[in-house]
Amino acid sequence: MSKKIKKIGVMTSGGDSPGMNAAVRSVVRTCAYHKLECVGIYRGYEGLIEGAFEPMNARSVRDIINRGGTILKSARSKEFRTKEGRQKAYDNLIKHEIDAMVLIGGDGTFTGGLIFEEEFNFPCIGIPGTIDNDIRGTDRTLGYDTALNTAVEAIDKIRDTASSHNRLFFIEVMGRDVGHIALNAGVGGGAEEILIPEANMGIERLVESLTRSGASGKTSSLVVVAEGDKTGKSVFELKDYVDNNLEGYDVRVAVLGHLQRGGSPSCYDRVLASRMGVKAVESLMEGKSSYMVGTQHDKMVLYPLEQAIKSGSDINQELIRVSEIMTT
Ligand code: F6P
Repeated sequence: MSKKIKKIGVMTSGGDSPGMNAAVRSVVRTCAYHKLECVGIYRGYEGLIEGAFEPMNARSVRDIINRGGTILKSARSKEFRTKEGRQKAYDNLIKHEIDAMVLIGGDGTFTGGLIFEEEFNFPCIGIPGTIDNDIRGTDRTLGYDTALNTAVEAIDKIRDTASSHNRLFFIEVMGRDVGHIALNAGVGGGAEEILIPEANMGIERLVESLTRSGASGKTSSLVVVAEGDKTGKSVFELKDYVDNNLEGYDVRVAVLGHLQRGGSPSCYDRVLASRMGVKAVESLMEGKSSYMVGTQHDKMVLYPLEQAIKSGSDINQELIRVSEIMTT
């Protein structure tokens, strides 16, 4: 039988995402509700190794549900990749009598958690917090909805100036391995073309498509590009290519960058975070470990951590087709 859980540690790790604070709040308050102790671990695995712990109660998480970023701070730890680093982390957990952890983060965070659990048999449950939506087993990751809305708002603004000057804009959005933000923000923002890692349209086809658009009477265009698209060119090189190969286009570039990671979480992300925090703590209380909490068809589920990080998540093919039709 698994050990009764009395004290839970919670951390945020990897790239921050809007809704992480709401998830921390939910974990802390669920612990308080069930009369468990809760400890905040600062800077993800870095703080775990250093013993940067702070006891948290229901009042420690007041006024944070609406705040972007993470009050626990976040980091990507090199030391945790070493056996010695993980041993230090384990020793700290034992010293502070922490029985289990909730890990809020993306694939790097979950990979670390899995190795740790295998080495020390230490119970961990993951909450998928990343704007990329690149985790299997959940309809959405925490922060994705907010990041999409931020990206679309920015694209709308760029559209205003693009159409005033009859310009073509390449707009780079985040997503180094996956194109969920680019595809959805591209469709939502009415982009002319969307370049994503999952579908290599090739630069020649892009030029053909832009030529067709020009001939059909379009005077301005927005091309949304995921960071990790497969043309092999940066947005700046794409601009140069179009400048050199297409007549009559005045081209500009906008890189949205880290502004997509900040900001107050959307209502969707706040609710998702609240649900995930409850499910994570109650699953640990039931003796579950090595799972991620997620939603599937709006129902809370537990999904094996190992599966969650396998080869990202599938791009929506139906939406790719919609985007093609919309650019007619
Ligand atoms: O994983 C989330 C993410 O925002 C990616 O979309 C992006 O490629 C990366 O993090 C940026 O990482 P960093 O903040 O370390 O530059």
